[in-house]
Amino acid sequence: MRNIVILISGSGTNLSAIVRACREEDWPGRLGAQVAAVVSNKAGAPGLALAQSQGLDTHLLEHSAYPDREAFDADLAAVIDRYHTPQEPVLVVLAGFMRILTPGFVDKYAGRLVNIHPSLLPAFGGLHTHQRALDAGCKFAGATVHLVTPELDHGPILEQAVVPVLPGDTAQTLAARVLTQEHLIYPRALAKLLSKK
Ligand code: GAR
Repeated sequence: MRNIVILISGSGTNLSAIVRACREEDWPGRLGAQVAAVVSNKAGAPGLALAQSQGLDTHLLEHSAYPDREAFDADLAAVIDRYHTPQEPVLVVLAGFMRILTPGFVDKYAGRLVNIHPSLLPAFGGLHTHQRALDAGCKFAGATVHLVTPELDHGPILEQAVVPVLPGDTAQTLAARVLTQEHLIYPRALAKLLSKK
């Protein structure tokens, strides 16, 4: 059973979708993995309480307590590395983790560090993706699961979902529809990645 460590900063709905997929015997993409721990960089993140209620190991590493990114990433790696199994290194899954990681951290976990971003990359990397898609007059929005490389919101694409922009959409209504698709494509992308290992 491969161990997954999920990093979050917010509500944790993608975390929840991945936990559910790992636990459902008959889930079509059968992951063959378990969420071993959840790490948040934010004390009040609802996802942290959600993870605790699901009986998962949780860790809080508040980035504001660190002098720089290198020091934070070193402690983050130390927590993650507790979850390697003797057979396999841990898979690191960013699920709404709103911190830029150092190139050293990204290199260390290359090929097993995955992110989800709420746009059709390579369009609209960075913040405020839904508002930017609306402002640009896009007819379609979506989400992308990709391997993380040192350049922000780049890296090989594993899975995408396309979501039509509807008349009257706001950033909030569009984000909500995209999020429901995220919950489908993230477990599917992880299942495909794990089946290749
Ligand atoms: C998701 O929409 C995810 O794509 C986005 O944060 C949200 C987290 O929701 N991630 C990013 O913007 C990363 N650049 P969740 O906490 O409910 O899973």
